Amino acid sequence: MAKKKQKKAKAAAKKSSRKVVKLATARKAKSKSNGKHNSLPRTSTKPYGQDGQALTGVRILDFTHVQSGPTCTQLLGYMGADVIKVERPGVGDITRTQLRDVKGEDSLYFTMLNGNKRSITIDSKHPQGMRVLNALIKTCDVLVENFAPGALDRMGLTWGHIHETNPRMIVASVKGFGPGPYEDCKVYENVAQCAGGSASTTGFREGPPLVTGAQIGDSGTGLHLAWGIVCALYQRMRTGRGQKVLCAMQDGVLNLARVKLRDQQRLKHGPLSEYSQYGENIPFGDAVPRAGNDSGGGQPGWILKCKGWEADPDAYIYFITQAPVWGEICDLIGKTEWKTDPNYATPPARLPRLKQIFATIEEWTMTKTKFEVMDICNKVDIPVGPILSMKEIAEEKSLRDTGTVVEVDHPGRGKYLTVGNPVKMSDSITEVKRSPLLGEHTDEILKDVLAFKSAEIAEIKNSGALNAPKKEEKAA
Ligand code: COA
Repeated sequence: MAKKKQKKAKAAAKKSSRKVVKLATARKAKSKSNGKHNSLPRTSTKPYGQDGQALTGVRILDFTHVQSGPTCTQLLGYMGADVIKVERPGVGDITRTQLRDVKGEDSLYFTMLNGNKRSITIDSKHPQGMRVLNALIKTCDVLVENFAPGALDRMGLTWGHIHETNPRMIVASVKGFGPGPYEDCKVYENVAQCAGGSASTTGFREGPPLVTGAQIGDSGTGLHLAWGIVCALYQRMRTGRGQKVLCAMQDGVLNLARVKLRDQQRLKHGPLSEYSQYGENIPFGDAVPRAGNDSGGGQPGWILKCKGWEADPDAYIYFITQAPVWGEICDLIGKTEWKTDPNYATPPARLPRLKQIFATIEEWTMTKTKFEVMDICNKVDIPVGPILSMKEIAEEKSLRDTGTVVEVDHPGRGKYLTVGNPVKMSDSITEVKRSPLLGEHTDEILKDVLAFKSAEIAEIKNSGALNAPKKEEKAA
């Protein structure tokens, strides 16, 4: 009986993959009449934003947890992919209960990283759970995971098994390190920031290394992985086969810290003249030092106090003394003589005096609020940036208007803010949807996605593969 069904399922899977090929062929044939670009489909006649989304039709088997993997799959969901999040019965993603702010409800940690997804609970170590997972592998395009090294293999979901089950499937993983001495290590955000070269180059020279508030290890790597997946999907259109996509968090952080590796190589040829330590006559060692708030580019910058700084920890502005607007800066701060004084008139002359120059500019910025500085400077093209608190960002109307900050309603916890799609596309409009409750879509996925019959669903459910063990079972 089971064998018969397996055969049926296999036939159905084959049929569905055949369907894709047929569709592609049909489209090609249709487009032949399109003239010049004859390998492309016809241009949609639907209005922009009304012909699906960029990743409509792509189905993701989301085996991710914590932050790095969920960031990736949420971004894919924002672009229209059908993201099916597999969670452990009764427990779910560990972040559901971490840093809880509302008793008994999914935390913001979870809700803000798992929008636009469906949740199914499956015990991957149960034979019936594996049956469901195998069915999902057949129907999904991409499996995304960020388990500790080896965990997916221990479940039996080796690349060989997945590739054999569905040769088109892309298997995308986040790991802490790539192949090498640390490949087996578990890694969290700050470990990656340290191992990727960010921490050693962040902070003040005289202080210890610092981690950043931006989650460049987790969210940064999730973003890299999303890009890798989309590229693999594109390549699959040509090759017809899936591939493994790996993003090591160390590599992702290093990619974001590449300007510091640039500086490391420049060090061999002399001191880094744009670092304020150069102007202060402090010798450089053999590794890139921490540069405080120095600008990473060739235009010197620093964070300066603004009006109210005594009481407001965020009353600061980032001020860049961009060379082409040096005259405008001198006019604003009342130092017109600096425009022609050979000690100040040229960028090289200013380098040894940056500390004093910024102190003088700060005397001016301290008489204005950060927003006044912003208004005044932008009128004359001086690049400045207010230090915005998270409170200010949460309340910023323009970010709400663009859908970058979105208020979502959740049946358990009520309204919460999340970060919407940071990428805006004219023909792929994002609707931000709330995160799913644990196992909320289990039934609908078994029925509608996997086409299991009622009897099969009952069999799987009765086996206990989809539910948390009852307390007495647990104890036994
Ligand atoms: N059913 C049954 N078992 C499940 C399951 C499910 N649905 N989902 C997960 N598990 C099991 C795994 O099989 C694994 O079991 P095993 O170790 O016996 O093989 C276990 O849960 C734990 O997985 P693991 O990934 O080791 O979790 P952890 O909490 O111990 O470690 C991390 C967490 C983040 C440190 C680790 O996953 C990791 O290093 N990931 C890669 C790097 C990364 O993404 N880090 C950033 C996280 S934001």
